[in-house]
Amino acid sequence: MTIQHIFVVGAGTMGNGIAQTAAVSGYTVTMMDVMPAALEKAQATIAKSVAKLLEKEKITKEQHDAAVSINAVANMDTLGKADLIIEAATENPDLKFKIFKDMDAAAKKGALLASNTSSISLTKLAAATSRPEKVVGMHFFNPVPLMSLLEIVRGLQTDEATVTAALEVGKQMGKTPVVVNDSPGFISNRLLCPMLNEACYALDEGVATREDIDTVMKLGMGHPMGPLWLSDMIGLDVILYVMEVLQRDLGDDKYRPAPLLRRMVDAGYLGRKTGRGFYEYE
Ligand code: CAA
Repeated sequence: MTIQHIFVVGAGTMGNGIAQTAAVSGYTVTMMDVMPAALEKAQATIAKSVAKLLEKEKITKEQHDAAVSINAVANMDTLGKADLIIEAATENPDLKFKIFKDMDAAAKKGALLASNTSSISLTKLAAATSRPEKVVGMHFFNPVPLMSLLEIVRGLQTDEATVTAALEVGKQMGKTPVVVNDSPGFISNRLLCPMLNEACYALDEGVATREDIDTVMKLGMGHPMGPLWLSDMIGLDVILYVMEVLQRDLGDDKYRPAPLLRRMVDAGYLGRKTGRGFYEYE
């Protein structure tokens, strides 16, 4: 199937980044969120991002205009027109399963259903639909307009035509896609989150200050951001959830979430999005 129209469910950080990148890449895009405030914020974020990219001549005026005129909707009434639906809702399994069922019911025959989940099993999400072979993971990275990687996750039931279509969309969106078989945390979060979790243990044990822990990884390993700074950007709740999935589904306590990580989430210190995480934000 040729993909022309992409419908993105969820207008948060990942959803608006995916919608923007798809629109800039020539797709017709609809972005949906049930919360009007989230849609407004997403439109403002996209406008700011594409203004910056235009100023730096990374995109053309036409691409800029396509992104600022993305169709923003509050329900799935027009989802049936889309060839590919990408779910980018909050990383909450109950919510994602419900959304997937709704997407499946509203999507046209043959449309592909993708999830941006960072940790939920694609095989399980696929099994909740009437078209498991058409379900695939499309795991983007934050900030979506800048990060080149796209992890394409193949569930046990996903057919090759679906994987091929997802690869083509990823390439057209300017990403370098890699195909990963469904497994807890895929590759990205199986490697990244234990490192971030370990930085939290080191901080809690007083091994070094937050700044020095970040400096070690930036200057010693060439990472663009230190692990605590990056954790704040991703969201501590997301990291805690991924660690819980790794510990439970891989059955190994080496993935045990750091107690400080859990306490911070309990306190509502989720990182940049709440104004406080390992660092404080305006
Ligand atoms: N759109 C357009 N421009 C943007 C932007 C966006 N969304 N975000 C940042 N920029 C701009 C900045 O405004 C800045 O512009 P100026 O140079 O004009 O000031 C420019 O990009 C560079 O930004 P920085 O100064 O912050 O410089 P940087 O070199 O550090 O680049 C970065 C930013 C690409 C985000 C880099 O820091 C980086 O790669 N960080 C690591 C990010 C990462 O690891 N992401 C993965 C998170 S894990 C995940 O997403 C998945 C999961 O499942 C948990």
